[in-house]
Amino acid sequence: MSLRPGPQLRAIATVQVALAERSYDILVGGEVLARDDRWIPLVQARQVALVSNLTVAPLHAAPVLKALREHAAQVIEVLLPDGEACKDWQHLQRIFDALLGHRFDRRCVLVALGGGVVGDMTGFAAACYQRGVDFIQMPTTLLAQVDSSVGGKTGINHPAGKNMIGAFHQPRLVVADTGWLATLPARERSAGLAEVIKHGAIADVTYLQAVVDDLAALRRADPLALQRAVVRSCEIKAAVVGEDERENDRRAILNFGHTFGHAIEAGLGYGTWLHGEAVGAGMVLAADLSERLGLLSASERGLLVAAIAEAGLPVRAPDWGFEAYLHWMSADKKARAGIPRFVLLEGLGKAVVCTVDAHRLRQTLASCTGPPAV
Ligand code: NAD
Ligand code: GLY
Repeated sequence: MSLRPGPQLRAIATVQVALAERSYDILVGGEVLARDDRWIPLVQARQVALVSNLTVAPLHAAPVLKALREHAAQVIEVLLPDGEACKDWQHLQRIFDALLGHRFDRRCVLVALGGGVVGDMTGFAAACYQRGVDFIQMPTTLLAQVDSSVGGKTGINHPAGKNMIGAFHQPRLVVADTGWLATLPARERSAGLAEVIKHGAIADVTYLQAVVDDLAALRRADPLALQRAVVRSCEIKAAVVGEDERENDRRAILNFGHTFGHAIEAGLGYGTWLHGEAVGAGMVLAADLSERLGLLSASERGLLVAAIAEAGLPVRAPDWGFEAYLHWMSADKKARAGIPRFVLLEGLGKAVVCTVDAHRLRQTLASCTGPPAV
């Protein structure tokens, strides 16, 4: 990372997550650590553990470590293997082993440099270590910048379900450096776009239209288009989290496409489709269901499905039948007494959470599943 801002760099944008004493900023732009000093007081004279993985660290850790070492009392690096399969107790334990092995105290700070897997695990380690220590999110995937690093959901998977063990623990700061996204594979960028499209669909139709207009630029990682999308998505997520931090009600709308999406991921086996790909196809199913219930017009559904396809995401979910879908969807965290609940669209830009009758659900699954079609 060069320390001199390049010509492509805009001012660093700030989005605030307003949660009283747990409020924090999200800094969005290029070369953030070099151009903004708001992270320094959080690490000054403290023990800092940079947690990353074996893919991200060789690409991006060196300048981050250098910057941290200029201000912290002690900096250690904890490197995890890559992949969703490592989001488990065994690998979480490696973080605790390193912290205890270096005698980290309760004033220590964990820094998560990586995608959603590293972020969720580091956040959960921070929530548990000595009953809770500070952590900073430094998300390096589009999905993590627009979604997983914001809002304080942390955790690991259990063989019986994804993200089933975890805690709400807000970061002290999120540093979303869009420059880190330059090395992200195109398939991962498309996966992140699913969450970007989701934010427009549930909360802001003008933003959805702007994302559609920017899709080509976003797919080729144009820094300004990325900054616009990260900022607006974070604003939308921050507003929802500010209203309902612990998902008692409204926060569930952030799960648009996820009830079907989690069923697709679980049914195919985690890692077969990326999370964002499953959410893409899941949003197609949720939009179809919304139209069948008279909540969404055919043209609105068409616009959304076209955006998902143009983002490079699957628009058809695998066909393994109603019962199998019902089985996986009943385990969704939004389900009540085993009855799945769905986030549906009442027009583009407005989401509602509801149960639906089995007949409509069967029709949607019959119409939107089949051989994969992107
Ligand atoms: P990921 O963390 O597995 O990252 C995707 C891949 O990209 C990995 O191979 C990673 O090593 C690599 N990578 C990361 N940054 C890179 C870079 N800059 N250049 C090159 N490669 C890079 O996946 P993800 O999509 O970021 O996150 C998915 C995870 O996030 C899931 O576990 C999901 O459950 C979780 N999630 C959490 C929340 C939340 O609110 N906490 C929300 C959505 C998703
Ligand atoms: N990604 C859903 C949430 O943070 O609530």
